[in-house]
Amino acid sequence: MQSSLVRTDVTQVDSLQSTGHRLTVPDAAKMVGEIYSGVAGAIKYKQSLRPYICPFHTLVDLVPRGSSILDVGCGAGVFITMLARLERIRSAVGFDSDGPAIAVAKQVAATFPMSEQIHFEQRAAQDKWPDGRFDVVSVIDVMHHVDPLNHADVIGTAAEHIADGGILIYKDMASRPLWRAWANRLHDRLSVQEWINYAKMDDVIGWARAANLQCESRGAINMLWYRHEWCVFRRPSTAAPSATH
Ligand SMILES: C[S@@+](CC[C@H](N)C(=O)[O-])C[C@H]1O[C@@H](n2cnc3c(N)ncnc32)[C@H](O)[C@@H]1O
Repeated sequence: MQSSLVRTDVTQVDSLQSTGHRLTVPDAAKMVGEIYSGVAGAIKYKQSLRPYICPFHTLVDLVPRGSSILDVGCGAGVFITMLARLERIRSAVGFDSDGPAIAVAKQVAATFPMSEQIHFEQRAAQDKWPDGRFDVVSVIDVMHHVDPLNHADVIGTAAEHIADGGILIYKDMASRPLWRAWANRLHDRLSVQEWINYAKMDDVIGWARAANLQCESRGAINMLWYRHEWCVFRRPSTAAPSATH
């Protein structure tokens, strides 16, 4: 279902594995509301609103079934817990610099049947990342919070953590059109008291290329006054198999 407030422009997504049943925004919101129903305080409501302004309903379809995933800047774990609820992943590691968000992610994950396969850690993207290589590395709405001096390193380090043949899902707020970019800037100024710094998608693609990743598909969507864009990068398979999570 697509309302006039949600406009999608997705290219080449058909080449990716699909759930067969696509989630709608209300489906995603209902799921997230259920996942966080036992959480106290404002963070519960913040998570419940995320599916209305972030296209999780579409992003979950980019994750191949049975994947291991590393979610960078995972917040309170909404992407990982949705994927776990959809039985789309076999294991997950999420990390974020925000301690209270990680505490909520751990609390929620503990209620899942596959809780032993889900790990959340407090650490910053500039610090050492969790060990291992993963079928999927995701960076969702994090880059604009990172110091621009570290933008290229985030992509380079993400590339090092992708298993051969695996993917990087990079999604962030679009820097154009300007009115939408400014709407999001004001959102972050009011909600987290931060002036954010957009990374241009062309720059992200350039850093990914330098790290031997190929841009396989791109998409964009407007949700309310926010514009999102994403790119799926693949790390080529090599002849020698590598140890993965
Ligand atoms: C808009 S939230 C997105 C959270 C999550 N990816 C999601 O989509 O719900 C941005 C997150 O990035 C985290 N973050 C910002 N700078 C970071 C950094 N340098 N290292 C790790 N996480 C960071 C924040 O703590 C916050 O949880």
